[in-house]
Amino acid sequence: MRKAAVRGIEMAYDDVGAGPIVLCVHGFPLSHRLWLPTAERLSKSFRFLMPDLRGFGDSTATADASMSDYADDLAAFLDALRIDGPVDVMGLSMGGYIVFEFVRRHAAKAKALVLADTQAGSDTPEKAKFRLDAADKVLAEGLRFVVDSMTPNLFAPDASSMLVNEWRDIMLATDPRGAAAAMRAMASRADSTTTFAAIHQPTMVVVGEHDAITPPDVARVMADGIAGATLEVIPAIGHMSPVEAPDAYASIVGEFLEKLN
Ligand code: MLT
Repeated sequence: MRKAAVRGIEMAYDDVGAGPIVLCVHGFPLSHRLWLPTAERLSKSFRFLMPDLRGFGDSTATADASMSDYADDLAAFLDALRIDGPVDVMGLSMGGYIVFEFVRRHAAKAKALVLADTQAGSDTPEKAKFRLDAADKVLAEGLRFVVDSMTPNLFAPDASSMLVNEWRDIMLATDPRGAAAAMRAMASRADSTTTFAAIHQPTMVVVGEHDAITPPDVARVMADGIAGATLEVIPAIGHMSPVEAPDAYASIVGEFLEKLN
């Protein structure tokens, strides 16, 4: 893994391929490895910058973080790599929440958006309370209960146990401080439906047919609300599109980005 000094932390990242840059923002509690199958398949056409967010993977954890921290980290990361022009930005789930914040704070750095298995709405008060309680519990007990409760919702029921176990291990390796900070940040995130009108970047929304966390009807709200946005539903998979259907995901994303770059 490479490391970049960003806003007081070390940000670990992978950098694969050559061509127009795609900045990849993983979900919770995942890591940059979410994007490796896509990067492998499209490395001849694009350069994939895949950081571990603050507190995830091999990046430094801090006790607190906000959506604006994650978005500002990404902007500073691009600056640290001396990337001046706008880049394509792709985020899955929490990564999508961060992409909305990135567009609000750093619009000039975003050329096109891929919103994968994500949603624009904020948490209900009940969901926010649940996350805040879970954040305290994670700090006291570790991540196992979060991983156990999320796993059935992350993958389609017939996903291979090898894939599921690989991701359980990645999730369990997350620093509890990083996970707790992200849960608090998600609990207080803004409602991004009010950002739709400000999105002028070409946008594609992608979702797994059986995504149990951010289902297709929730994806459709973004595709209907963002001018010119398109929606792709990948059959027979769940919330983890890039790893559950790596060929289909890469081909859909590749086709969308090829047309723009
Ligand atoms: C994710 O996959 O990033 C999380 O499930 C998002 C969330 O909990 O809202």
